[in-house]
Amino acid sequence: MSRLLLVSNRLPVTVKADKDGVSVVRSAGGLATGLRGPHERSGGLWIGWPGDVSRLTPQQRASVEAQLAELRCVPLYLSASEVSRFYEGYSNRTLWPLCHYLIDRIPEQERDWDVYRKVNERFADLVARHYQPGDTIWVHDYQLMLVPAFLRARLPQARIGFFFHIPFPSSEIFRTLPHRADLVRGLLGADLIGFHTITYVRHFSSTLMRLLGLETVVDRVAYDGREVRLGAFPMGIDAQAFENLAKEPAVLEEVRTHREKSSELRLLLGVDRLDYTKGIPRRLLAVQRLLEREPTWRGRLRFVQVAVPSRTAVADYAAYRDKVDELVGRINGLYGSVHNVPVHYLYRSFNERQLTALYRAADVMFVTPIRDGMNLVAKEFCAARPDEDGVLVLSEFAGAADEMGDAVMVNPYDVEGMADALEAALEMPEEERRTRMRNLRARVKEYDVHWWVRSFLDELQATPTPPPRVEPA
Ligand code: ADP
Ligand code: F6P
Repeated sequence: MSRLLLVSNRLPVTVKADKDGVSVVRSAGGLATGLRGPHERSGGLWIGWPGDVSRLTPQQRASVEAQLAELRCVPLYLSASEVSRFYEGYSNRTLWPLCHYLIDRIPEQERDWDVYRKVNERFADLVARHYQPGDTIWVHDYQLMLVPAFLRARLPQARIGFFFHIPFPSSEIFRTLPHRADLVRGLLGADLIGFHTITYVRHFSSTLMRLLGLETVVDRVAYDGREVRLGAFPMGIDAQAFENLAKEPAVLEEVRTHREKSSELRLLLGVDRLDYTKGIPRRLLAVQRLLEREPTWRGRLRFVQVAVPSRTAVADYAAYRDKVDELVGRINGLYGSVHNVPVHYLYRSFNERQLTALYRAADVMFVTPIRDGMNLVAKEFCAARPDEDGVLVLSEFAGAADEMGDAVMVNPYDVEGMADALEAALEMPEEERRTRMRNLRARVKEYDVHWWVRSFLDELQATPTPPPRVEPA
């Protein structure tokens, strides 16, 4: 097997500097948590941004670099202006809302394209510097859409894969973007472009046709003298690792504590990055609606919502946080008592053990993004349930919905419908819960992250190496 060079904007670890000093902590988000295990098992490198290091002393920086080297991570440092214009700017103010069908959130006048392009070029330069003949390069996500083409120009013979972790929207949405054709050409530098679902592949194919007049034949597109393949590879999780954690005595002890603390209560759980695509406000409104219309649930329901801070410098995220804070306060003010409140809102990162204990303790997992490329939290919940109990309520707009037909499906825009689904989940008979969970777990365990990595890389290895370019005499 050739050496694997993973390339993503964020490394699986992020540098955290605060008053207690500097540490390297695990990054949240599906890409980082999903690829961490495969990277540890491979002998390759992971190239990406380690977070803000601008305030580190030279000694702290040296210590961080030693820790990254130990993890086979190669840092690409972003300047303050690149963080603001490439990461917060073009990536997260333009591409992120666009791909989640929220085009009204995009700035009216976009000014960050040139920095996006420049940083993509910097990534390609760094990858090319570390590349050895025979390596396989695997580039990830919307922050790096131009990297495949920049790499192809630098390394014409390299085997390059690209995986798009977020929804690829309908061509009607994508074609609103001023730099639409440049982005698509950037991706076409790869030999294989992967998406989570067949729907995203179709959207990409019709975008190719509309923007560049390129026809996809089955799963192939001829472009610039090469053949580019497209495919759906639904990302999985390290299911065995979650299952093992869920059986650890210390985790089970924590589960008991959660359940004892709420022995009279049913536990409803939400776990997300605090992102406006995750549908948290309507999820809270559905809880409120249930308590409003069914007084018998008052005092019998505890909704634990864990939200990890994310992209806090982007104004829309700050506004979203205010909205969630306000709703939590409103519901607790309306339906709390001197002894208890219905919503327990925890705005922080949890480690995998703590998350697993919560997953295992929950009666109902409430996953309601208004749009999500995949949503790995839904899969983590199932993997953490070797007891084959617990009900998953899942948005039909998450990529995971294509695979998880045994979840209770909801339209995340329909508050009343979500309140109905929540009630049905809370009252579901044990036999039905077990049957559904057994089916969900079988799928999550079979199509895990190792399957995902293998199937993508096998397909990438099967792509023909591009013919050497013949320079005109
Ligand atoms: P996204 O990639 O958009 O963040 P996913 O659901 O695919 O969404 O992945 C989220 C990942 O981040 C999961 O692996 C989950 O365990 C992790 N995560 C979510 N919330 C937290 C939290 N509060 N603390 C730590 N990790 C979290
Ligand atoms: O999975 C989607 C994704 O945007 C990843 O690319 C990213 O690493 C993760 O979510 C978390 O976001 P961020 O890196 O902006 O904190």
